[in-house]
Amino acid sequence: MVNGQDTTELANKYGTPLFIYDVNKIRNNARAFVHTFEKLGVKAQVAYASKAFSSVAMLQVAKQEKLSLDVVSQGELYTALKADFPVEKIHMHGNNKSAQELEMAVSHKIGCIVIDNFYEIKLLDDILANYKTEMDVLIRVTPGIEAHTHDYILTGNEDSKFGFDLANGQAEKALQMISESKWIQLKGLHCHIGSQIFETDGFVMAIKRLFSTLEEWKTRHAFVPKVLNLGGGFGIRYTSEDDPLPLSGYVEALVSEVKVHVNRIGIPYPEIWIEPGRSIVGNTAITLYTVGSKKVIPGVRNYVAVDGGMTDNIRPALYQAKYDAVLANKASQKVAETVSIAGKCCESGDMLIWDLDLPTVEHGDLLAVFSTGAYGYSMSSHYNRFPKAAVVFVENGKDKLVIKRETYQDLLKNDLSYE
Ligand code: LLP
Repeated sequence: MVNGQDTTELANKYGTPLFIYDVNKIRNNARAFVHTFEKLGVKAQVAYASKAFSSVAMLQVAKQEKLSLDVVSQGELYTALKADFPVEKIHMHGNNKSAQELEMAVSHKIGCIVIDNFYEIKLLDDILANYKTEMDVLIRVTPGIEAHTHDYILTGNEDSKFGFDLANGQAEKALQMISESKWIQLKGLHCHIGSQIFETDGFVMAIKRLFSTLEEWKTRHAFVPKVLNLGGGFGIRYTSEDDPLPLSGYVEALVSEVKVHVNRIGIPYPEIWIEPGRSIVGNTAITLYTVGSKKVIPGVRNYVAVDGGMTDNIRPALYQAKYDAVLANKASQKVAETVSIAGKCCESGDMLIWDLDLPTVEHGDLLAVFSTGAYGYSMSSHYNRFPKAAVVFVENGKDKLVIKRETYQDLLKNDLSYE
């Protein structure tokens, strides 16, 4: 069951593979962030990182929940505009924003651009001069902390394609360049230390580093940030091995650490922005597959193949990500075998789950994989020319198709004949 809906019925109605999102859960996650900031009396923007899952319907839900939006491409911005997302609440990221992307952002008057490199400062300045308009920006900095989910590495010598180094004065040079621009308005700093982070100490370290820079900039440039964007990365539970904090716990940790440093260096409390993607949608969806073939290698392994795989969920192949799953049509049956779930792509690495305990698996069973709401559909591909899956939203016991299943005609729509 998903939100009162029988998954077997949904599979019959929409086919498989099928992403089923519980919209009430999306709203609850969004509200957990927003309400915690409200409770703590901190002015904030919670910007949904739409790379986790972007569609018109999803962005409409984000809009209804009064979220802001993080887009990283013209395609994500285009989707936001189609969803009628309030432009002033859209923030644009990207380590290689094109002139066209920046121009689209400027012409639609989006709320903020997160500046990533020197080339972009010049490009944006020229575009703004052309449009005779101003744009708020944040400088993205790499604070020298890398989160590896459970532990943090302090990297003295930054090695990242994103942002300006704090350590070697690049960020300060960006500040100076921006302050010479008539059109670019610097609101503050941005940093993002990684994704699927469970503990708060990495965020705390990053905030410490940001403030030691801000302390210097206050003295040297009289710069006081109006905004601090602390990025996303809050972890979720995929399997019982994962132990994230409640979403409010991350917000509380950020807010209290910022307070310490604001008092220490004597500046007003800035607006806090965050950019959660995974933690808003990750645990709100399941993927339903139909079981097809089975290969039993006695004493070695039972492979069970489903009608999707790395084309709708690349994460196990790409990151060795782990997932949990059940047989939706045999939910009350006892565990009878240990199987490994294979996708149907022509590639040995196309495995979804290794060593999963299930009731006896048979052709036609429905496998429900949990927590596939983030970076599943959004990273899906056409490998082996599989059409992309359908996406259904369920809310208050009602289901609605929000992304149609692709057809073979869709697959070929850009193919041109060579005869
Ligand atoms: N802000 C920035 C600047 C980011 O780069 C990201 C993610 C986020 C926010 C959102 O992070 P989240 O809250 O979703 O962790 N494809 C990978 C994740 C890549 C994340 C990239 N940046 C995965 O499937 O695990």
